[in-house]
Amino acid sequence: MRTSLPMENLDTCLDQVRRLMAEVLSETVLGRLADHSRALTGSGKMLRARLLLRIAAVRKIPRPAWLSAAAAVEMIHAASLLHDDVIDGGIIRRHLPAFWKQRGIAGAILAGDLMLFKALDLLVRAEETRLLAELIRHTGTLCDAEAEQELLSRGGRTAWAQILDVNRRKTGSLFAFAASAAAGGDKSLHRALLKAGYALGTAYQLADDILDASGAETAAGKTLGTDRARRKNTAANPAPPKAAAPARHCRELRRAALAAVRRWPEIHATLQDYCRQDFDPVVEPMLAGRTNKQKHRNGGPP
Ligand code: IPE
Ligand code: IPE
Ligand code: MG
Repeated sequence: MRTSLPMENLDTCLDQVRRLMAEVLSETVLGRLADHSRALTGSGKMLRARLLLRIAAVRKIPRPAWLSAAAAVEMIHAASLLHDDVIDGGIIRRHLPAFWKQRGIAGAILAGDLMLFKALDLLVRAEETRLLAELIRHTGTLCDAEAEQELLSRGGRTAWAQILDVNRRKTGSLFAFAASAAAGGDKSLHRALLKAGYALGTAYQLADDILDASGAETAAGKTLGTDRARRKNTAANPAPPKAAAPARHCRELRRAALAAVRRWPEIHATLQDYCRQDFDPVVEPMLAGRTNKQKHRNGGPP
């Protein structure tokens, strides 16, 4: 089944989202740091915005709603990365020196806070009260999970179920917002899209945990190995209960995401397009890093 957002339209919409993010930041001090504006607003993979835009196209929601929601979710995500690099000591982000490396820790904390609130203000300006409330709730979930990982579980043994739960809340939450933003007043579709978004986001964090433990920094464009260095409990550090568990679970979650929306054929086809065209090309190489190492360790071909 064809969905109603061909690739060239998706690219045009993504450009509009990037432009809006740049515009919002240009109203602030961050707009005067010209060297950083691209890294903050445009050079990420935009996985959350892509998900939101694809579903919004099928649901035919008005432009101000999808534009402000996509820019807001990407800005919250970018803000979380500004803080995350300070926390993890990551020195490369999006193929460039991390913000804190160039502008200092205080600068990165302040810039992250600024981006968070400018993101929420976008939805206030668009008078999208429901989306604003949902984004606040999902961002709170992200912060709670990040804090739990740092304050409660770092350095100790953590059960596999708890790791999955932290991944679900810290990364699944923004994917869940992105997936469900265009559901409108259809409550059962909203629930199904939340479920699908949480599944995809959890899968993405599992792949990212594998990447951190066994990927290549040059290809990733960010500092890796910080989970182990900081004794952060993740799906790949320390070693999971069964060696192949995170990669297998990641693919199972992708299947679960699609299954969650099976009742809505057009949404199902759209999510399948998203998985095939946006998600898999990013995630499969992340999973392959682990597979190569595994084979190598077991004496198989590298
Ligand atoms: C990185 O997210 C951090 C995680 C939540 C796993 P992305 O890989 O989506 O980061 P960008 O936006 O493309 O840089
Ligand atoms: C994910 O943290 C970022 C947030 C959810 C805030 P990670 O530490 O796993 O992300 P990377 O690997 O640095 O991109
Ligand atoms: Mg990190």
